[in-house]
Amino acid sequence: MSKPLSILFVSSEVVPFAKTGGLADVSGALPQTIRELGHDIRIIMPKFAAVSERRFKIHDIKRLTDIPVTVGERNLLGSVKSSFLANIKTKVQVYFLANEELFGRTDLYTDPETKEAWPDNDDRFIFFSRGVIETIKLLGWRPDILHLNDWQTGLIAAIIKAEYAKDPLFRGTKIVFTVHNAAYQGVFPRESFAKTGLPESAFSIDGVEFHGGINLLKAGLIYSDIITTVSPTYAKEIRSGPEYGFGLEGVFRKRARDTYGLLNGMDTMIWNPATDQEIPAQYSAEDLSGKVVNKKALCERFALPFAEEAPVIGIVSRLTDQKGFDLIKEKIDDLLSEDIRLVVLGSGDTQYEDFLVRVQKKHKRKMGVHIGFDEPLAHLIEAGSDMFLMPSKYEPCGLNQMYSLVYGTLPIVRATGGLADTVIDLDEKPKTGNGFTFVEYSAKEMMKAVRRALSAYRNRDVWKAAMVRGMKSDFSWTSSAQRYIDLYKTLLKRK
Ligand code: ADP
Ligand code: GLC
Repeated sequence: MSKPLSILFVSSEVVPFAKTGGLADVSGALPQTIRELGHDIRIIMPKFAAVSERRFKIHDIKRLTDIPVTVGERNLLGSVKSSFLANIKTKVQVYFLANEELFGRTDLYTDPETKEAWPDNDDRFIFFSRGVIETIKLLGWRPDILHLNDWQTGLIAAIIKAEYAKDPLFRGTKIVFTVHNAAYQGVFPRESFAKTGLPESAFSIDGVEFHGGINLLKAGLIYSDIITTVSPTYAKEIRSGPEYGFGLEGVFRKRARDTYGLLNGMDTMIWNPATDQEIPAQYSAEDLSGKVVNKKALCERFALPFAEEAPVIGIVSRLTDQKGFDLIKEKIDDLLSEDIRLVVLGSGDTQYEDFLVRVQKKHKRKMGVHIGFDEPLAHLIEAGSDMFLMPSKYEPCGLNQMYSLVYGTLPIVRATGGLADTVIDLDEKPKTGNGFTFVEYSAKEMMKAVRRALSAYRNRDVWKAAMVRGMKSDFSWTSSAQRYIDLYKTLLKRK
């Protein structure tokens, strides 16, 4: 084997330490697989208050305490703590950058009281970006690859290019920037630019400037060597127009030649119906008998009357516009007039939380709602539902449709991003189909797909065959992780 690579994976959330969405799942699983494939990969993330030092045996690194980090006029101090991400096969070192004032809050990005972004998110992530670079310098560890993720880390690329291009420590380092969601960009006013410490020349259309302010996602896009995104279809969509690029479609277009779409994998140790300890009955493609036991348990959990012929439709989601809740809202009466049970787990926008709770009160025997974040319940919903509804307006990759496929729960999805790359329509392709898809983003098209699913459900043999096909799909990280490694290697050969 050729020489192992050294990689620093930078992310603001990592399972099991802190999570708001799929970014954390990816940041936990991908580095472990890259490590299994023989490379020296380490992770760095902020030490939020939500990250439990006791539970994860996090300890201080003595020589990395009180590191000076400048954010504009402010001289702040950061400390690095350490722990490991371990599974039966490997161990990955995880560094946590701590600063009590900036990260000593449980919620990662938003103030739970106002539901708005923390007002000092610019300081927080400028500090994180500079702190990561200071940490590398003190470690004296030369990463071949800096793998950055989403807007929270984009500035690192700009700082390295502006200040460290000739530094021996970073001269050979290449930067990969992965976009998990182009809608979240880290946009701040003009005054925040001074805090970045970047040279004035970076405040331009070819730099971090964006409509008179600054945009940290754009920083990552402009200054990284390679851009990746989390599915092949999304890689094309982001340059197609503002519905997908959110104002950065021009930048995506400019960097099209350096952009790669690599489909996410999923953690098959956590999400496997044959070994899942969060569900009452384990089952597999060879023995489906446990599935109905889970369906009964799910109905019981939400006090819904169980009926074998009435399919349960599950939803586990952030409650945001991205996930298509306006379509569900529009057609909720039609949906609930069918012979189904609808179970929703989610949290997010108040308007959707209120709506779901309100409708549930009127339809207590048909609908179950749990507002909140609840991992064990997410497992029960995947296992106990017959169908999983995910009518996303856009979906960079999406993990829940993969979990659904593997749990024999047929996904009904809008054909966009990673959903288009993983779900095959059963009516269009009866021999290979594993779910139901619709193309136009409209409530009418969504309902047509739901009704097709309901009618297919009555044909038990066809349905079972589709379940089994889904359950046998291979979404493990191995092949995607290998693609990342190949990409790192190609990049390192570039001058
Ligand atoms: P996104 O990152 O856009 O939210 P993904 O489908 O990639 O979408 O990932 C979402 C992840 O978060 C999945 O692991 C899903 O199970 C989990 N999740 C979302 N909402 C909840 C919730 N309310 N409770 C438990 N898990 C949730
Ligand atoms: C984002 C996207 C989601 C993707 C996840 C992990 O949160 O919304 O589609 O699966 O990142 O890459």
